[in-house]
Amino acid sequence: MTSANQPSAGAVDAEKAVAQRIQKVGTVAIRDANRPLKSGEEVYKAQCVACHATGKAGAPKFGDAGAWAPRIKTGFEALWQSALKGKGAMGAQAGGDFEDVEIGKAVAYMTTAVGGKFAEPAAPAAAASAPEAAATAAK
Ligand code: HEC
Repeated sequence: MTSANQPSAGAVDAEKAVAQRIQKVGTVAIRDANRPLKSGEEVYKAQCVACHATGKAGAPKFGDAGAWAPRIKTGFEALWQSALKGKGAMGAQAGGDFEDVEIGKAVAYMTTAVGGKFAEPAAPAAAASAPEAAATAAK
């Protein structure tokens, strides 16, 4: 019988469980994952307009095809990653009020305004219920 060891093993598990619960509250419960995704335009107006409307800090200005053209050539993924992680004077745009996919929609919105042909990124597979959405996510 090794029952003498069991209470302490149980205590460690309980501690771990508490730590996991705390972590969950601290990192996950900030955004409402079930709200409908915002459009690229809504995200732009809420979070990107401050710099991209005027070209502040060297930001490629909304509607300025010349400023956007060389960036568009790098491809949608590269632009999306730049927006999520930050680039130069632009801080990371991920981790705020919007999901990563919503930041991607804002990138599509801004590039479409200057003749870009990028499709909006699809919602994450877990959130997709329609078969067409699942098919798009699986591509
Ligand atoms: C604090 C000002 C600021 C905000 C807010 C901001 N940006 Fe930027 N953004 C910049 C600047 C400055 C650059 C140019 C960075 C460089 O090339 O050095 C830039 C560049 C970009 C680029 C081009 C990246 C590349 O790889 O060339 C994209 C795409 C972009 N921003 C998207 C967004 C989106 C989407 C939002 C809103 C969710 C946003 N930005 C919010 C300042 C900002």
